[in-house]
Amino acid sequence: MIKLHDLYFKPFISEKEIDVAIQRMVDEVAHDLKDEIPVFVGVLNGSFMFVSDFVKKYPKPCEVTFIKLASYEGVKSTEDIQRLIGLTQDLTGRTVVILEDIIDSGNTLEEIHRIFKNEKVNELKIATLFHKPEAYKKDFKLHYIGVNVPTKFIVGYGLDYDGLGRNLPEVYQLKTTQYMTNFVLFGPPGAGKGTQANFLKETYNLVHISTGDVFRHHIKNETALGMLAKSFMDKGELVPDQVTIDMLNAEVEKNTDANGFIFDGFPRTNAQAKALDELMDSKDSQINAMVALEVEDEVLVERLLGRGKTSGRPDDADEQIIRNRIKEYYEKTAILKDYYDAQGKYCGVNGVGSISDITDRLTQVIDKL
Ligand code: IMP
Ligand code: MG
Repeated sequence: MIKLHDLYFKPFISEKEIDVAIQRMVDEVAHDLKDEIPVFVGVLNGSFMFVSDFVKKYPKPCEVTFIKLASYEGVKSTEDIQRLIGLTQDLTGRTVVILEDIIDSGNTLEEIHRIFKNEKVNELKIATLFHKPEAYKKDFKLHYIGVNVPTKFIVGYGLDYDGLGRNLPEVYQLKTTQYMTNFVLFGPPGAGKGTQANFLKETYNLVHISTGDVFRHHIKNETALGMLAKSFMDKGELVPDQVTIDMLNAEVEKNTDANGFIFDGFPRTNAQAKALDELMDSKDSQINAMVALEVEDEVLVERLLGRGKTSGRPDDADEQIIRNRIKEYYEKTAILKDYYDAQGKYCGVNGVGSISDITDRLTQVIDKL
């Protein structure tokens, strides 16, 4: 993901895909024009990269020139497009191929047609690398189209957002949802995960999604997803990942004004981590980190035994049970640590110390996400 001015953009069309699209356009044009020597006319500024790559691939002799429309110089409304700069060459009798970076509403193209009406060209053909068919309002034929794109703002490969982004070799699409900071919170039993999650959600206006709580809520309220989950649990089977993901999706949808989410108790497997990445991607968002509280076993055992004395929880009273739970935690999270480590997203935080010390360490990590 990249940021230009105040907006975030996500990767959308790769260099490779652009290259393939241009090669196909070149093949089509070269095939249609046979031995004619065309004049390729690039429309500046946006088309400079496209024209460069296009003519480098063109297998036969050709001429290359550029025009520029005056609306590109600060006139905001496309209604005002009037002046064309740079058409100094006599194009009488020539086959002209306009090379456009993008055709959106078609206003620019209409202006090009108006201007070329006075040139006695043999033929005027239109080639555009990108096209937004749903936004296109004109009837002019587009002879060659590289890639059809949805009506969303894109940058890169010549296209700019307020001056920036033209130099990017690939194309990015505007992220329409607000930027969120999301992380999965891990910690062995006794690490103080619940306490810290409560502080963090206040500090950052995050929503804490504890999968256990979400499950219990759905089952208690007998929602469709809850009943579905219960049908598996009643048979003694694991609830399929998709059901859990659907529940998380519902939580995310419910909290569109949150600054992000703390995922707690999910993912537990590689497949779930992938599914969570896909879920966030579908929301134009991402998991920024796996934040793991790190506490030595001996400290955990001591803490939990202490807690057992007052809480009366039987699983906190037996040292062997505690040690097994800790061991199980490390065995299970090792895979996830590797998963997030591979993406450079694993953040271990020292979980030994006072509650406020640990909160400070966590905020230092989260501020950098
Ligand atoms: P038109 O609406 O077809 O006239 O497109 C006019 C111009 O708007 C294009 O030449 C681009 O300069 C600009 N434009 C349209 N859509 C985009 C986009 O998604 N990103 C960047 N520029 C765009
Ligand atoms: Mg243009």
